[in-house]
Amino acid sequence: MTRWDYSENTPNWISGYSPELPLRDKLGKLVNVEGKDIALTQNATFGSNFVANGLSLKSGDEVILTDREHPGAICAWQERAKKDRIVLKQVLIPTPANDPDQLVELFAGTITSRTRVLAFPHIISSTAVVLPARRLTELAHQHGCLALVDGAQALGQTPVDLQDIGCDAYFASPHKWLLAPPGNGMFYIRRDQREKFWTTLCSFAWDDQTDGMYRFMQYGTGNRSLLTGLDAALDFHFRIGPGRIYKRMRFLADRLRNGLQQIPRARIGSPVHPELAGATVCHRVEGLPAASVP
Ligand SMILES: Cc1ncc(COP(=O)(O)O)c(C=O)c1O
Repeated sequence: MTRWDYSENTPNWISGYSPELPLRDKLGKLVNVEGKDIALTQNATFGSNFVANGLSLKSGDEVILTDREHPGAICAWQERAKKDRIVLKQVLIPTPANDPDQLVELFAGTITSRTRVLAFPHIISSTAVVLPARRLTELAHQHGCLALVDGAQALGQTPVDLQDIGCDAYFASPHKWLLAPPGNGMFYIRRDQREKFWTTLCSFAWDDQTDGMYRFMQYGTGNRSLLTGLDAALDFHFRIGPGRIYKRMRFLADRLRNGLQQIPRARIGSPVHPELAGATVCHRVEGLPAASVP
């Protein structure tokens, strides 16, 4: 007699074949959207590949990125550039970046009539700049472009309100600042833009139009323990309170930033401007190898 018959009344030991709505709802609460608006993927790289490969773009169409992309956020675009001859343009982000208006102007100056997409990180991994995601999204929309945001470093580090940002897609890695087990990803597409994106990893519900983003969760058999870990990480995060976590991290980072500014040989490569600074501080001390800085 089988002990596991895949019926609704028996435990579900695998993931990949069910919508996981309660968990999506819980994660959605953190980013201010409904569970159906997000897909559970494996990491941010999945989301980046889904947006880059899911959009219909033709030769000559332009995608604007920064010169500070993580490989997980740019390589899928590079493949499309090679395969379909779309054009990638990169905005050079200054280091340190301390002027939000300048950043928006740099993007604005790169847009042309062929630009279709602005794809940028919410927080740059190498220089820890919190980019003005809402303003860049508004800029994209003023020019009829899509705003696609890589939130790998943002989820759990800074408040993420997807309705407030207004972006067309957002992907993230709950296994970073949210402390979920590695192998968890979040992927969001705004409802009114969803039909522009093909599902590029397909299984039985690839064309399901009834459960929002479920069609982007068609990756075959997955590991249930990862989802259980994500659930626990969210409970932990909510038990402490996202506001308290962000405030505490900000306090510690501000203390470090302020202290470093009192040390003549210290150099801060990440922003000190309050709108662009987050919980990560990149710094060095002139004349001292990094490993010897206490
Ligand atoms: C800004 C940024 N984007 C994308 C990624 C890729 O994330 P993952 O490996 O979870 O797909 C990272 C990883 O560090 C990152 O920092």
